[in-house]
Amino acid sequence: MLNKRVEEALNEQIVREDHSSQLYLAMASWADTNGYAGTSEFLYRHSDEERLHMLKMVRFVNERGGKAIIPGVEKPAQDFASMKQIFEEIQSHEQMITNKINEIVQICLEEKDFTTHNFMQWYVSEQLEEEALISKVLDKLKLAGEDKGALYMFDSDMEKMEGQQSNPNMA
Ligand code: FEO
Repeated sequence: MLNKRVEEALNEQIVREDHSSQLYLAMASWADTNGYAGTSEFLYRHSDEERLHMLKMVRFVNERGGKAIIPGVEKPAQDFASMKQIFEEIQSHEQMITNKINEIVQICLEEKDFTTHNFMQWYVSEQLEEEALISKVLDKLKLAGEDKGALYMFDSDMEKMEGQQSNPNMA
């Protein structure tokens, strides 16, 4: 049986992964309707990845004899001032997620749940990749500044920008 404290922590994380997916979908929709077709593709993919993060955790909780609680949909923000604001928000959101993942890892250690500890390592590496990717995107955006031509180039680069869906162990 899954340790109760670990189960609760994982269920709280399921809510956060689901919310991340919705938030990035709202950002994708904003980019799509504001002339940033390339960036919207990047954000649509990112939203799908967050849903996969949630599903991976749902399956794990259930496989271990716990009960995954499927969250309701929380309406995310719909309007953003700029691309810069979007990616700064993603950066601070992902930093918050990394802290939460680390807290779960800590709970696993305190409860001596080494199986979940091992499972959580995938999320630890994923966060490392995501934070690196977002800071790369922010660097590119800073270079582009307010220049329309540079922003156009940025946007077409984003369409091709690899996400972090390279992990073969993704459920
Ligand atoms: Fe699933 Fe971007 O954290």
